[in-house]
Amino acid sequence: MDLLLQQIAAATTYLQSFSFETPRVGVVLGTGLGELVNHIKIAHSIPYQQIPHFPESTVESHKGHLILGHINDTPVVAMQGRFHYYEGYTMQQITFPVRVMKALGIQQLLLSNAAGGMNPDFKKGDLILLDDHINMQPENPLRGLNSPAYGPRFPDMSCPYDTVLGEKLQQTATAMGHPLKKGIYVSVMGPNLETRAEYRFLRMIGADLVGMSTVPEVIVANQLQLPCAAVSVVTDECDPDNLHPVSIEEIIAVAGKADKRLSSLFATVVAAL
Ligand code: HPA
Repeated sequence: MDLLLQQIAAATTYLQSFSFETPRVGVVLGTGLGELVNHIKIAHSIPYQQIPHFPESTVESHKGHLILGHINDTPVVAMQGRFHYYEGYTMQQITFPVRVMKALGIQQLLLSNAAGGMNPDFKKGDLILLDDHINMQPENPLRGLNSPAYGPRFPDMSCPYDTVLGEKLQQTATAMGHPLKKGIYVSVMGPNLETRAEYRFLRMIGADLVGMSTVPEVIVANQLQLPCAAVSVVTDECDPDNLHPVSIEEIIAVAGKADKRLSSLFATVVAAL
């Protein structure tokens, strides 16, 4: 067995040593977006550093726990805090938890993130359902030797976000009185935010939102043929002709304000899966 498969097996075996029902849904919670945890009946909250081969979260706003529990009757595994390329990890490390969650048995994956809104229709605090993405990060999680056990060498990406799961999110959000807008997310390396010229460029190539995460996990989910959906919270408005300085503290504060709405949405959808 190759090293990655051995590491996935070690992490999975460790997690299976906790007694819990096979999780049906995986959730990855983005920057400032941890409130979903309050909707989970928690069976186990396991610090990442205890899980074999899990990278350790270095970002203060990310708690770094893997949560096993239930939302209503749905068994879930939730990542409270994710890993980013700018922290210095490899793409393979960033996406390791997705492979482990799949090995644990999840059938669907939901992701959230904080993102800059470049589409002028998007306002701070809006929730945007990702429709597609552009990968501008400098490495790819599938680069290197590919064991057939990882999934196909050249995964199809014609529809990276599951339309059925997306429709469920949209219907639920609409029923809750906050229909989702849709958008295309471009992933960048970070950690600096963009210059005006960069926002102009990213808008020009077709992106509505910009952020530093999500795409690696979605690429791996697609390789694993794991249906996924992602929702961004617009934390800053990125108009290159009227750009205001923004700090990470403001980004986290805006994400925090939208977190209740996003978490209720995710919890309602997960409960029905
Ligand atoms: N750029 C990149 N990442 C981000 C932004 C942004 O403007 N806002 C939140 N995450």
